[in-house]
Amino acid sequence: MTSEQIRKLFLEFFKKRGHNIIPSASLIPENDPSVLFTTAGMQPLVPYLLGQPHPLGKRVANVQKSVRTQDIEEIGDNTHLSFFEMMGNWSFGDYFKKEAILWSYELLTSEKEGFGLEPSRLYVTVFEGDENVPKDNESYEVWKSLGIPENRIYFMSAKSNWWSAGDNGPSGPDTEMFYDITPGGLNLKSKEEFIEADKGQKVVEIWNNVFMEYEMKDGVVIGKLSQKNVDTGSGLERVAMVLQKKDNVFDTDLFSPIIVKIKKLSNSDDIRAQRIIADHIRTAVFLISDRTTPSNTGRGYVLRKLLRRARYHLNSIGGRDSTLASLVPDVISLYKQTEYELGNKRENIENIIKAEENQFNEVIESGKSKIEKIIKEKNGISGEDAFVLFSTFGFPLELTKEIAKENSVEVDVVGFIEKLADHQKLSRTSSTGMFKGGLANHNEKTIKLHTAHHLLLAALQEKFGAEIKQKGSNITEERLRMDFSFNRKITQEEVGEIEGLVNKYIKNNYTVVRREMPRIEAEKLGAQMEFGAKYPDIVSVYFIEDENGKIISKEFCGGPHAEKTGVLGNFKILKEESVSAGIRRIKAVLQ
Ligand code: ALA
Repeated sequence: MTSEQIRKLFLEFFKKRGHNIIPSASLIPENDPSVLFTTAGMQPLVPYLLGQPHPLGKRVANVQKSVRTQDIEEIGDNTHLSFFEMMGNWSFGDYFKKEAILWSYELLTSEKEGFGLEPSRLYVTVFEGDENVPKDNESYEVWKSLGIPENRIYFMSAKSNWWSAGDNGPSGPDTEMFYDITPGGLNLKSKEEFIEADKGQKVVEIWNNVFMEYEMKDGVVIGKLSQKNVDTGSGLERVAMVLQKKDNVFDTDLFSPIIVKIKKLSNSDDIRAQRIIADHIRTAVFLISDRTTPSNTGRGYVLRKLLRRARYHLNSIGGRDSTLASLVPDVISLYKQTEYELGNKRENIENIIKAEENQFNEVIESGKSKIEKIIKEKNGISGEDAFVLFSTFGFPLELTKEIAKENSVEVDVVGFIEKLADHQKLSRTSSTGMFKGGLANHNEKTIKLHTAHHLLLAALQEKFGAEIKQKGSNITEERLRMDFSFNRKITQEEVGEIEGLVNKYIKNNYTVVRREMPRIEAEKLGAQMEFGAKYPDIVSVYFIEDENGKIISKEFCGGPHAEKTGVLGNFKILKEESVSAGIRRIKAVLQ
C-alpha cells in the first residue's frame, strides 16, 4: 500500500463512521505563543477539546503535518523523524473508549476495510493509574473483548501512557498499539520481553488513542474537562513502514527516492548521514512552505540548524559540490497528490535553501581559518574555543575535530560538552517561559489581546484601505504582534490615528459574535483570512459589530474572544517596524 493509499484509507474509514474530514493546519501555530511548531494534531483543535463546538461537528478526522525537534540526536535510527504526518480521529465529547479502540482495531486488522495487519503481531499498552487518575481497566476490558490475549496487554505508568502537549490544557491516559515487524514474529509473552523488543525497535508504536477528559495546569492534573474527548494519532511514516514490510521508515515510499538521490550526490555508504540529510531536507521544505525562514532565533533557528546539519553531513559524505537545494524537487514530488501544495512554492524553497547553504559554506571557510589560527597560537583547541566556534559561528564540533585531526592536535571534547550543557541549561530556563503557558494559553490577557488584534486589523484597513492584509500574528500574555502588507513606514502621526481608532472601537463597546457558516459564504462576505492558511468547508467567523449590526471586523478565527470590546482597556502601539519588503510589523499592548 502506498502512503497516499494509506492516507486515503484512513480518512475514508472514519468518514464512513460519521467523521468530517478537516485539512491539516499550518506547522506554525496560529495565535499560540506557547509552542514553536505544531507538534501534534491536537494543538489546532484545543478550543474544541475544551468544549467549544466545532463547526463540522463532534467527529472529525485529519492528517496533520507535525514537527518535533527535541529528539534530533536520535534521527538516523530506524524510526525517529523531525517531521511526520499524523493521522487522527477525534471525538469532541461524543464517543469514547469503546468505539475508539474498536475502530483502531478494525482499521488495523480488517482485510476488507482496513490495513489487514495480523492480530497476532499486535501488542497494546494501557495506563496503570496513579495518585490522580485511576487505572484504565475499561480500555483493558475492551482490548480483551476484541480478542487480544491478556499477556499482550501491558499496564504502564504515566511516563509512557499519559498524554499532554506541554504542562497545561487537555490531557489524559492513553492506550498505545505496537506491531511486531520481525520476519518470523516474536510471540512475546511478558511485559519485560515487550519492553526489550520496543527498545530494539522490533515492535513499533503505530497508534496512540488518548482519552482526553482531564485538564492539567503547570504539570498537575487539576480536574476533569467539561466533556470526554478522544484524540488519536497514528504516524503515517510508521504505518507505511509496517505495511510496506520495511524495518525502517527511510526504506518506505515516503523516503526512498530521496535516499537514492542522496546516494547519487555523494560517495559514501554512511547510512546515518544519508538519513539525517533526508529527514532534515524534508522538514526544511515543509517549514519553508509554511513561511519559516532561517534566522538566529526561535523557529528560524531550528530551520537553520536543520539545514546546517544536513549541509555538514552532505559535505562529510563527499557531496561538497552538490547542493541540498537540488533535493527539493525530489521531496516535493513525493507530495504531489496531497493537499500541501508544495509545488507552487518550489522556487522560493530552493532559493532560501541555496542562500543558506552558500552562507554556511562561507562559515565553514572562515571557521576553518579561525581554527587554524587557534591551533597555531595554542597548539590545541580548548572546550571553550570549540564552544565559541559552535555557538557564535555555527561551526559544528565534528568539523572542528576534523580540522584538528588534519593538523594533528586535540580538541577538548569533554570541555566542549560541559560548556554546551551549561548553555542548554540556560536556554531551557529561558524557554520554559515559552512552554509554561502550555497549549490553550487562553487566559484573560491573551483573549483580550486576541480581540484587540482583530480591531487593529480593522483600524489599519479603515485608515489605509481594504488591501491591507494580515501576514502573520503572535500573541503572548504581554503583547500582540501583527505583520501586515504595507509598503512604507507608518508615520508617528498615523500611529496615533490607528491607536485612536482602536480605542474608539473599544469605547463603543461593540459586541463580538461567533458565527458558523460555509466557507464560501464567509469568503463572499469578505471575511479576513490568514494568508496561506487552509480552511474547512464550514468555518467559524468572528464578527465585531455595533448595536445596529454594522460590521467593524470579520475574520476567520477559532477564538476565543472577549464578548464585548469595552473590557479591553487602553490600546497602545509600542513599535512599528519593517519585517521584509512590503511587510510591516506592529507590536501593541493593552494597558
Ligand atoms: N496526541 C497524541 C499523540 O501525539 C495522539 O501521540
